[in-house]
Amino acid sequence: MQQRTLGQQGLTASALGYGAMGTTFAYGPGDDTESIAAIRAAHDLGVTHFDTAELYGWGTGERLLGAALAPIRDDVTIATKFGFTPETYAPNSRPEHIRQVVDTSLRNLGTDSIDLLYQHVHDPTVPIEDVVGTMQEFVQAGKVRYLGLSNTDVEQIRRAHAVHPISVLQAEYSVFSRESEAFFPTVDELGIGVVAYSPLARGFLSGAVRPRSAYAADDIRHQLEWWAPEHFDANVGVTTGLTEIAEAKGLRLSQLALAWILAKRDDVVPIPGSRNPSRVAENVAAGDVELTENEVARIDALSREVRGKRAMG
Ligand SMILES: NC(=O)c1ccc[n+]([C@@H]2O[C@H](COP(=O)([O-])OP(=O)(O)OC[C@H]3O[C@@H](n4cnc5c(N)ncnc54)[C@H](OP(=O)(O)O)[C@@H]3O)[C@@H](O)[C@H]2O)c1
Repeated sequence: MQQRTLGQQGLTASALGYGAMGTTFAYGPGDDTESIAAIRAAHDLGVTHFDTAELYGWGTGERLLGAALAPIRDDVTIATKFGFTPETYAPNSRPEHIRQVVDTSLRNLGTDSIDLLYQHVHDPTVPIEDVVGTMQEFVQAGKVRYLGLSNTDVEQIRRAHAVHPISVLQAEYSVFSRESEAFFPTVDELGIGVVAYSPLARGFLSGAVRPRSAYAADDIRHQLEWWAPEHFDANVGVTTGLTEIAEAKGLRLSQLALAWILAKRDDVVPIPGSRNPSRVAENVAAGDVELTENEVARIDALSREVRGKRAMG
């Protein structure tokens, strides 16, 4: 698999990473054995970058990912995130909270060092200089290698980068969600790489989308506008157009959607999530797909017909 460089501090990753959120959070109950098999399948197929967060099950997601990667820890990079209060889900980047969460994440992941540590969400109550200053303590102690930000704005990125180099902005980016393109001039100027989260639009671009009513009651898709009854059919129509482009190239919709992201920037790494080894294999195969300029333009045009906003975080 092609390798990509994220930022200017030395972090590299396979062009496609793996997002572990769904193993313990957001998409209804998973099967841990199958999730571990999916994670190992990703590695067997060349994926070296794995993403999780404290939020994904308040430690259970990190423990599952850490267990899955334990035999191959030195072959991979692991990213995790801090930034919420468990009881309320409110942003929390107070320095003492960061210190406690990151120490717990190291234990959960069963590792001496986190390759990439993100602030998960901007906390308006704590100056970003204090947040990054606290993250930097872990770099200086050898417990964290690279720093990243997620769900933030341009001003915060600039101020953070002035304290300690930021290697990655993790932002929602897919054919359905192009708002993050507004960050591109800033990350280009500062030399920050992009990790694209929810690259399959939370499954809308998977080729297996279903109406809200088909998902478990606690599934996050009940809250997403793309699935709202007034938008759903129109958005399925967009995927029909995309599927025609995909099938003409012998691809699945999901593969076309991932290849479109890879075609947009040399330094973007999508992190699709799947709890199933064969679906992981399908996603990883997108790393070899080349799109023509005309195909990218046709996908761009369809993306403008998507109805409903993305969800935050
Ligand atoms: N920074 C943030 O705030 C933030 C927010 C959201 C996500 N993330 C990160 O981004 C990662 C990916 O995002 P995501 O999980 O929200 O969404 P996604 O990757 O866009 O979509 C995941 C959904 O698509 C399904 N799927 C994946 N590949 C498929 C395939 N080939 N065929 C059919 N269905 C497929 C998955 O189901 P199955 O598991 O059943 O295959 C799951 O329901 C997360 O794991 C997390 O690491 C970060």
